This record gives sequence, structure tokens and C-alpha cells, in this order.
Amino acid sequence: MSDQKTYPVNPQIAAGAHIDSAAYQRLYQQSITEPEAFWAEQATEFLDWHQPWQQVLQYDYPKGEIQWFLGGKLNVTVNCLDRHLEKRGDQVAIIWEGDDPAHDRKLTYRELHAQVCQFANVLKANGVQKGDRVCIYLPMIAEAAVVILACARIGAVHSIVFGGFSADALRDRVIDADCRVLICADESYRGGKIVHSKLNVDKAANQCPNVNTVIVIKHTGHDIPWTEGRDVCYHEAMQTASTDCEPVMMDAEDPLFILYTSGSTGQPKGVLHTTGGYLLYAAMTHKYVFDYQEGDVYWCTADIGWITGHSYVLYGPLCNGATSLMFEGVPTYPHPDRFWQVIDKHQVNIFYTAPTAIRALMAQGDDFVTRTKRSSLRILGSVGEPINPEAWEWYYQVVGNKRCPLVDTWWQTETGGILITPLPGATPLKPGSATLPFFGVKPAILDPDGNILEGEAEGILALTYPWPGQARTVYGDHARFIDTYFAKFPGYYFAGDGARRDKDGYYWITGRIDDVLNVCGHRLGTAEIESALVLHDLVAEAAVVGFPHPIKGQGIYAYVTLNVGIEGNSSLKGELKDLVREEISAIALPDLIQWAPGLPKTRSGKIMRRILRKIAANEFHDLGDTSTLADPSVVEQLIANRLKLP
Ligand code: WTA
Repeated sequence: MSDQKTYPVNPQIAAGAHIDSAAYQRLYQQSITEPEAFWAEQATEFLDWHQPWQQVLQYDYPKGEIQWFLGGKLNVTVNCLDRHLEKRGDQVAIIWEGDDPAHDRKLTYRELHAQVCQFANVLKANGVQKGDRVCIYLPMIAEAAVVILACARIGAVHSIVFGGFSADALRDRVIDADCRVLICADESYRGGKIVHSKLNVDKAANQCPNVNTVIVIKHTGHDIPWTEGRDVCYHEAMQTASTDCEPVMMDAEDPLFILYTSGSTGQPKGVLHTTGGYLLYAAMTHKYVFDYQEGDVYWCTADIGWITGHSYVLYGPLCNGATSLMFEGVPTYPHPDRFWQVIDKHQVNIFYTAPTAIRALMAQGDDFVTRTKRSSLRILGSVGEPINPEAWEWYYQVVGNKRCPLVDTWWQTETGGILITPLPGATPLKPGSATLPFFGVKPAILDPDGNILEGEAEGILALTYPWPGQARTVYGDHARFIDTYFAKFPGYYFAGDGARRDKDGYYWITGRIDDVLNVCGHRLGTAEIESALVLHDLVAEAAVVGFPHPIKGQGIYAYVTLNVGIEGNSSLKGELKDLVREEISAIALPDLIQWAPGLPKTRSGKIMRRILRKIAANEFHDLGDTSTLADPSVVEQLIANRLKLP
């Protein structure tokens, strides 16, 4: 990795940008020396409050207590919709681009507002009240924006489950949040194929005794099974619903949503975000990180099932009155030029995607890009995993014609919004570095004992001060919240990533330092995959690790120990993959399964993943200290039978 290569700020961009280099320095200083005054000012500028707050911040990290804008009242949809009606009621809020290039649709702010109010009334008619959890299992269709915002209109807490998750994964999330109402589509399209959403929902809902209502949005229009008394047709219900619905005024700290994400242990946890601080942080980062300008067409390719879809497809852009593009499809369908075609078709100015997509498209050759114009593009963004310098350069040079600043944004489900990032008009870029902290963000690099490392250093990334978009708890398990993020290094928020800081103070994220994998930008816990594998009757034990993968970022390598006397074969591998698909999702399928007669364990029985990771990555010449292993010969066997990486 070279720290040397630097692209200076593009002067043309800087001239028109909200934040130039001097403004960044000044505001950043202010944001960390007088944080409460700084955030109070931002909260006034970015949001409309029904009632002002009495206190900006109260927090106690060791107790996992974080509150912003205490006593303030507001409604998210008033900020994302109502207040825009007068000035930009007829401006497009959502451009929807279907999987099939012939399908698209536009919704103005006025239309979106009316439909959100209607659906809020539908929710109320189905018994949903403030504080109730509503599960949303939808593809990227425009109605997703409607139902999400409708929840926020009446203070219901949405829990969006990515449409690629299996019925079992959906069931677990519905039960954990005790959702009574589930919203889904009949089916969806993905790369020309049909996804049977409603079938998954039926399978899940049949195992969730408290789910009494399933609201179904017609998308493909094909016949689907119907459960009378439980299933409600979205379109019929909307027809008779009024377009008037008073917004419920929420406390700044009332929950807005729950979003499940993977951790290093156990099952995914329901990260909870609240109303005022989250919305402020999403809106402010959207405006400054992408240098969003009035009238821009903005496209974030993330699915609404992930945090990036929450903050940067919906809440941030809509709060700022932007035109946000929602894309149902995949980058390679019908051809690997789809992204660039869509950019030309809708004249997209700001484009935000994941490194895995960039690497996959880069592998298809430049022609798919260069045969499109992309002249509307002004800003490029990257999120979800470290972007390797080669992919960065290709994105910057070939896609952006060296004109468009590329913002590599580091953040997490738990952080609600972007924490470390360049600002287009302010920050010289280094390919592969997320560069500098956003306003109010105070990163630190720690050694394993929790000591702060100053200057150039590499270690554990932590945050020393709260920011408004930070998660407030793990739904139903505050102890887990404290344990995961605040216990290990008291006084800090522990992010789970490693980072290096170079001589210019730039941050280089080195990846997860816990047992969380990042596969195609999807966050997966090794523990979840292991629990799926051991469900098989013939499996005694399993250990899953990541390995470097040229396109996916990380691939999944599973070591599986079978019951005594059982021989592994390819049909058994197939069964194990099916199990993972059923329990979690196709996104969690192991790339490689190695039969392991035994796993390297300490004498106390702890699996030494460090060794397994090295064997998987073919770095077995330097395994470190193996003397503490209960049976060191296991390692030799695993090395001898290791599988070839793709
Ligand atoms: C990784 C996605 C390097 C990181 C917004 C983090 C990144 C995890 C970057 C969170 C980046 C995200 N550079 N790594 N620009 N962005 N990550 O919760 O490991 O799905 O902890 O949130 O993705 O994944 P999550």
C-alpha cells in the first residue's frame, strides 16, 4: 500500500462545493472543541422540530447510554416529505428503475406524501400503533419507500429484512422483534429471474404465532397462495385509504427502526436507531459527503435491507429534498453495462456503490463502460468494505474519467451514517484510504491493551465521542450492546475494525478484527454459518473463516468435522450448502468446504481461528505459536488437505 499517491482536490469541484478545505478544517475543529454547540446548530439547520430540545447530549459509554436532543419532538416524514411540498411538491422524489430496463417509474414528493399518508392509514386500520414493530420484507420497489415512511409517519418501528434472506432467517427476525404485521411483495425480479418472496413469507409467518397480518404488494402479478383473514392486498387497501394522516410527533429518542446485523458471536442482533439524531446525521452526511446540490439526481445502489439503503437511499436524501434513484436489478443484467446505462438514462450526478460491484464490472473489461457517456456524473462513492487501490483507480479513471472525486466512506450499521470519508471539495484523495473523520467524529487507534496510539500507527479502530447517528441499543438485549461495543475498551465505542493512520493523519481501514466476514459487501457472522452447518446430522463440528477473494472481497472457507466413521463427499457438500441457503441465505454459502478430521484447539477447547484463517489463505508457513494446541498434528493434516482458492 502506498501512502504517496495523492490526487489533489479538483478545483472546479471545490469552487462550487458546500465545504472546501478551509471550511472542513474550521468546522471540524469547532465540532470537536464545542460539540454540543456544533450539533445544536446543525440540528436547527437540517431539521424541522415540532418542539425544541432541552439538552443536546447525555451519554455514558460504559453503560451504553447515548441520548441526543433530549426533550425535542419531531416527525421524520414531516422532514422528509411535508416540508418539501410547498417548494418542490412536483419534483421527483424517487426514480424507480426496474430489473427489466423497460420498467421504470417516478414518484414526486406530492405523490409520495399522499401514498405514505394512505398507507399509514392502512397500517392504523390494521391495528398498528406507535411503538409497534412492523417487519418489511421487500425487494427494491418504489412501494418500499412508501411503507417504510408510513411506519415513521405513525411512530411504528420498522424492521426491514433483506429480501435475499431465507424464510428461516426472516422468521427469527420477526420473532426477535415481535412483529405482528409483515409487509411483502408477491414476487420480485433479480437479474431476469423470479424471487418467490411470498412463499418465503408464508413459510416464515406460519412459524410466527403473533403475526396476524401480512400485507402483500403486487409486483409481478403472478398467482400466489393466499391466507384468508391474514393476508391483505396492498392495492385494495390503498384504494379506500385517505390521503390525510396526521404525523405522530415523536420524541427525539423514540425508536425509528431496528435493523439486524451480524456480530462475531451468536445470532444477528437488532441494532436500534432513534429518531432525531439518526435523521440529522443521515441528512447532514448525505449533503456534505456527496456534496449534494439542489437538483442533483442521486443514486445509491444499496438495497433497503441494509443500513446503506436506509440512510442513503431514503432518509438522508429525502430529508434533503433530493431525487433518489432506487434500482431493483443487478449490475450485470441484461448486460454488464447496466449501471452506466442507467446513469445515462436518468442523468445521474452522484453514484454510490460497493467495491465488490466495481471489481466484478472491472473484470468484464472497459468496453462496457466506455460505450456509455457518463457525462452527468460529478461524484463517485464507495461503501461496504475496503476498496483495493486497483479497483479504486479503475472506478476513478475509467468510470469517472478522472473528473469525479471518489469518496470512500467507512461506517457501519451501528454508526447510522458515514464516519470516515473524504469530502469532495475539501479532501485530497489517496486510493484505498477512507481518509479523514467527518465532523464531530473522533477516531482513535488503540493497541490490544486499549492504549491510545498517536501519530502514524496501526491497531484497533475506536471512537472516543458520540455522534448523533449512533445506535442506541440492541433491541431487547442492552447487555449485549454494552458487551459488544463498550466493554472491551472502556470509554470508547469499539467498531470491530482495524485501521492504520498514516503520516498525513489519513485512515486506512484494514478490515474486521473479529469473526465477522464481509462477503460482497454483505456482513455475515462466522458463528451463524457454523450453526447452520452443524444442524446436519452427520456434522460433528464446523469452523468458518474468511479468505481474500479477488471479486467478493472475502470468500467463505468452512472446515467441517464429520461424525466418526462418516466419509465426506460432494453430495454431502451439496446438502450442507442447502442448509446454509435455508437457514440464512444464498449470500452465506461457503465457497469451499474442507473435511477436517479435527480442528486446532487450545487445551481449554477454544478453536484457534487465527490458524484456520492462515491455512485457508495459504499462509501456512508462518502459523505463529502452535505450542498451546491440544493436538498440533491436526494442523499438518489440515495443511496437507487444504483446498485451492478460487
Ligand atoms: C466494512 C455498511 C473499509 C467494515 C455501511 C465495517 C468498510 C463493516 C467500509 C460494516 C469502507 C464498510 N472501507 N471497510 N469504506 N465501509 N466497511 O454494518 O468492516 O453492513 O465494520 O455497514 O463494513 O458493515 P455494515
